[in-house]
Amino acid sequence: MEKVKINQHVSFSKLIQGFWRAKDWNWTAQELNRYINELHDRGITTMDHADIYGNYSCEGIFGEALKLSPQLREQLEIVSKCGIVLPTDRIPNADGHRYDHSSQHIKRSVERSLQELNVEYLDSLLIHRPSPLMDPEEITDALKVLVTEGKVKSFGVSNFNKSQYDLINRSLVCDKLHITVNQLEVSPYTLDALDDGIINHMFKDDVKIMAWSPMAGGKLFDPKDERSQRIMTVITPLTEKYNVSTNSIIVAWLNKHPASIMPVLGTHNINRIDEAIDGFGLTLTDQEWFDIYTASLGHDIA
Ligand SMILES: NC(=O)c1ccc[n+]([C@@H]2O[C@H](COP(=O)([O-])OP(=O)(O)OC[C@H]3O[C@@H](n4cnc5c(N)ncnc54)[C@H](OP(=O)(O)O)[C@@H]3O)[C@@H](O)[C@H]2O)c1
Repeated sequence: MEKVKINQHVSFSKLIQGFWRAKDWNWTAQELNRYINELHDRGITTMDHADIYGNYSCEGIFGEALKLSPQLREQLEIVSKCGIVLPTDRIPNADGHRYDHSSQHIKRSVERSLQELNVEYLDSLLIHRPSPLMDPEEITDALKVLVTEGKVKSFGVSNFNKSQYDLINRSLVCDKLHITVNQLEVSPYTLDALDDGIINHMFKDDVKIMAWSPMAGGKLFDPKDERSQRIMTVITPLTEKYNVSTNSIIVAWLNKHPASIMPVLGTHNINRIDEAIDGFGLTLTDQEWFDIYTASLGHDIA
């Protein structure tokens, strides 16, 4: 599995496993531990989390599974996110739905993530969503402390547009920190990031792209969804031509982008992981790439 350099301390596996849905998998710690080991055996070492996943439970579920193979920690890259507050009685002050990018909240959230995940540091901390109220100084203050304490090895954002990225990055660069990744929704179903300039802007600054919901959260497989059906009409003959699965074609489609996009998969099916890996061995032609793109758009390009 190819590695993508994030900064001088951290590299991610080109394919990343996400744990947003881990609560719904209803696995025992042993079952999840086996899955993490299967991922690791395939070179998928980067694990994507957020404080809020599964009503603040998914990091803890992962932490219990990791306890069963403590030697794995150093071989994994653990990513988590903060900045969204959801109402829950599991967390003090989580009394409403809002964004909180205050220094205090970021530091507290990371401390909790480390505890839940049962690790000493995060390989990467991302701000989950931009906030209209975000103050670059607050974020910078928190990061300075977390990086100095060795609790965070790299920093990134998620769902940030160009101006939101510029606002935060300008302040960080002054402090010799910088944004290394932007985690965005990208799939054949969701083209916004390809068209609104954000991926180009990140590419220009060598900020890596993590593509969340690369299978559109499963929507691509919904026979009742019109857009998905248009896309599948193009993908299905390609699965026959290349003798691979739909998941392989989708990874090949993302991988054709020159910005070296890293898909963050949400499956808990190891066969689908293998199919995704197969996608890296496949190079679609430009025409095939555009056929999928225009099928999604629902009209031809200019
Ligand atoms: N930064 C953000 O704001 C943000 C937002 C959302 C997600 N994320 C991250 O991105 C990760 C991935 O998101 P996601 O789970 O939506 O990813 P996804 O890979 O697009 O979707 C996964 C879902 O699709 C299903 N699926 C995959 N292949 C299938 C097939 N061939 N046929 C039928 N169903 C299929 C999976 O079911 P099976 O498990 O049964 O295969 C699973 O339910 C999350 O875990 C999280 O880490 C980040």
